[in-house]
Amino acid sequence: MNETINLLQNHSSVRKFENKPIPESHIDVIFKAANQVSSFSLLQVVSIIRITDTNLRQEIMEISGHQPYINEAPEFWIFCSDFNRNHQIAPEIDISYADFLEIGSVDVGLMAQNAMVAAESLGLGGVYIGGVRINIEKLTELLALPKHVVPLVGLCIGYPEEEKAPIKPRLPKDIVMHNNQYEPFSVEDIEEYDEKMKSYYKNRPIKAPFSTRTVKGWSEHINEHLARSYDPNMLEYLNNQGYIKK
Ligand SMILES: Cc1cc2nc3c(=O)[nH]c(=O)nc-3n(C[C@H](O)[C@H](O)[C@H](O)COP(=O)(O)O)c2cc1C
Repeated sequence: MNETINLLQNHSSVRKFENKPIPESHIDVIFKAANQVSSFSLLQVVSIIRITDTNLRQEIMEISGHQPYINEAPEFWIFCSDFNRNHQIAPEIDISYADFLEIGSVDVGLMAQNAMVAAESLGLGGVYIGGVRINIEKLTELLALPKHVVPLVGLCIGYPEEEKAPIKPRLPKDIVMHNNQYEPFSVEDIEEYDEKMKSYYKNRPIKAPFSTRTVKGWSEHINEHLARSYDPNMLEYLNNQGYIKK
């Protein structure tokens, strides 16, 4: 196994950080690795807002589900889909087509993951923060985001305070990888995975506020999360930012 594969296969999110800054030279290395990512047609539609102001960080923590690691991580970056630059260069192009947000979302995900992997390769750890979308309008105001810029995900980075958590089991290959055409999954495979997750959580109970239960199978997790993982006003917000009108 080479070092890269080892790193990727041993990923687990880090939510407790040492109170120790990351050297600026490391920040540059992580940024460069992130920024060299592939980009759809080289549109380069990602902006990273690096939150260094402690008061602003506190405000963002409060509107993003009160997740303490947003404050505690030495670095907190917010990845945005940004068509503002492209729009200024080509103002005649209508970027309100849904396709453009898809393009921006893919570019954001890829760049954020390059940052995560680069950070992990330097002995750092991190966790994504989808919670930044909980109060997306307020966040947009706090970050002074112009039209055509939307925050999609945050990333906390820092030195892990404790031994990294054991890796969380994922769905098996038979369910995730399909041959040539979509293949229905087997209920037995899901049940088997549910049991795997239950034994994982027995050793590492889920903490509040993420769940009311400390141990649960994946199917129960999906039922709990799907019910609260969406914002019914998101379309209106995206329209106001100039996205997804057609
Ligand atoms: C887009 C995205 C948003 C996420 N948002 C949060 C979040 O707001 N808070 C959090 O604690 N973890 C968040 N996570 C981390 C996931 O919970 C975590 O990756 C998943 O449970 C698998 O665990 P692992 O990364 O340790 O393998 C997010 C992950 C992704 C990819």
